Amino acid sequence: MPITLAPAQQEEMLSAARDAFRNAHAPYSNFKVGATILTERGTMYHGCNVENASYGLTICAERNAIFAAVAAEGSNMRIQAVAVATERDGPCAPCGACRQVIFEFGPDALVLFRGQTGTEQMVITRLLPEGFRL
Ligand code: THU
Repeated sequence: MPITLAPAQQEEMLSAARDAFRNAHAPYSNFKVGATILTERGTMYHGCNVENASYGLTICAERNAIFAAVAAEGSNMRIQAVAVATERDGPCAPCGACRQVIFEFGPDALVLFRGQTGTEQMVITRLLPEGFRL
């Protein structure tokens, strides 16, 4: 079942994601992204995007946060919610690759991000219908 987040919790996660983009390494795109994951244990993990001169090696903020959560909690880590924030004011929904990784660890995860008209809250299966499973 998808969770609901109280407005104060939403703001806490978005504010943590805004803190996270400060450490981003984005000299090629100048597009700094931060992400915060809330796990079922109630712990938050943070990530930022890390680019490389060999562009394809870049890792998104969301995946860095999720991988930090797996490293800390192990393979049974489950995501309750993800918040994404960028240095710029415009919209930023998670990219397709990150949606699949969110789905792996949080098939009911709630995703918070800035959309066209303000903060959006969407369950991952809306962002990624028919996510891949083995
Ligand atoms: N990026 C993220 O960190 N998350 C997303 O969901 C979309 C894109 C990063 C990757 C790259 O460093 C920069 O944003 C521009 O694509």
